[in-house]
Amino acid sequence: MSDFKERIAAELTAARSRSIAYTDAEDDLLVRQHSPLMSPLVWDLAHVGNYEELWVLRQAGGIAPLRPEIDDMYDAFRHPRADRPSLPVLGPGEARHYIGGVRGRVLDVLDEIDLHGPDPLHRDGFVFGLVIQHEHQHDETMLATLQLSGQAGLVRDGDLPPAGPPGPAEVFVPPGSFVMGTATRPWAYDNERPAHRVELPGYWIDRLPVGNRAYADFVEDGGYDDPRWWSGEGLHWLRHSRAFAPLFWRRDGGRWWRTRFGRTEPVPMDEPVQHVCWYEADAYARWAGRRLPTEAEWERACGWDAEAERALLHPWGDDAPGPGRANLGHRAARPAPLGAFPAGASPCGTEQMIGDVWEWTGSWFLPYPGFRSFPYPEYSEVFFDSRHRVLRGGSWASDPAVVRTTFRNWDRPARRQIFSGFRCARSARPEEG
Ligand SMILES: [Fe+2]
Repeated sequence: MSDFKERIAAELTAARSRSIAYTDAEDDLLVRQHSPLMSPLVWDLAHVGNYEELWVLRQAGGIAPLRPEIDDMYDAFRHPRADRPSLPVLGPGEARHYIGGVRGRVLDVLDEIDLHGPDPLHRDGFVFGLVIQHEHQHDETMLATLQLSGQAGLVRDGDLPPAGPPGPAEVFVPPGSFVMGTATRPWAYDNERPAHRVELPGYWIDRLPVGNRAYADFVEDGGYDDPRWWSGEGLHWLRHSRAFAPLFWRRDGGRWWRTRFGRTEPVPMDEPVQHVCWYEADAYARWAGRRLPTEAEWERACGWDAEAERALLHPWGDDAPGPGRANLGHRAARPAPLGAFPAGASPCGTEQMIGDVWEWTGSWFLPYPGFRSFPYPEYSEVFFDSRHRVLRGGSWASDPAVVRTTFRNWDRPARRQIFSGFRCARSARPEEG
């Protein structure tokens, strides 16, 4: 096998070992639905294998269906998450057997396939990138499900660096144009394409994500009781949800506590806030006299090297993320303290844009000019409905394979079971340039 194919095989194995680790539990935990927002874990497990079968074995490899009768159950578009527990899905043992069988054949296809042929599905291993990223994304979803379930044993404290020294609260990005999206990253999704020039006026953006201390100040200042800070839809959400603080927080004995994978601990005030929805992020920003950055502002601050006139793969350049640059891949089960990665700074000086927490932006998830769906409209296109907000940058639970400056995630503005936080921005005054 070529070096490239060996790398693909290693990435496939890495994704699978996460899926196996997160489903190494009693059958009852795997088949139960822990929240109507989430699938039973056993559904995710067989779904990643079914997706791999559809794309690598059938589409790329031309192999006949192994179990055509199960396709319908694992089609995410035919069955919303809330309905999945009522499906006659494969049990845990059967699911493991099925995905293992698929994987064996996938490695055979990898061995034989020409990754340099004209088929865009094969070229540069796109179809393998598709299933590797898809599995990691489901692994992150499984972690969110496990957090909701209260399941213990997933806390990893890791070896995260301490909080960094004090620095400027925000950085200035001068007016100018930059290239948004990509034409060249071989495993980028259709929604990241095509690359296109975007002109932006000058703006200020926070150097770091909003931390728990600052967020607790908002809560303690009566932020959740003051309609001035909330959008109309946000107020509706607030009344309906009765939220009073980030998800998994509670107040006891004059301090804030959080529950993390079944463990209750004081809220670490020097970490980025997580488990807030878009409405909460938007309200906080208004309270702070700021706003959320647009998606373009976020991407420019994260990945544009203005001096070289070049978009970077990561804020620090094109090198892979190392442990000193970002908190990714569930090395710890929490965001790293604020300022922990000065070596991960972007050219304009923002930090922690990659890893730690997904960051809500002010933008709806919409196509870039010239968008073409590939390889299927249900990946992105059906979500271009102005009901989903864009999140950027990946979280502590995201694998490096799914993290780059152009990567776009999206969700409903009310969702907060995901590992989501935010940073703020503001437009520059005319005299600031
Ligand atoms: Fe999926």
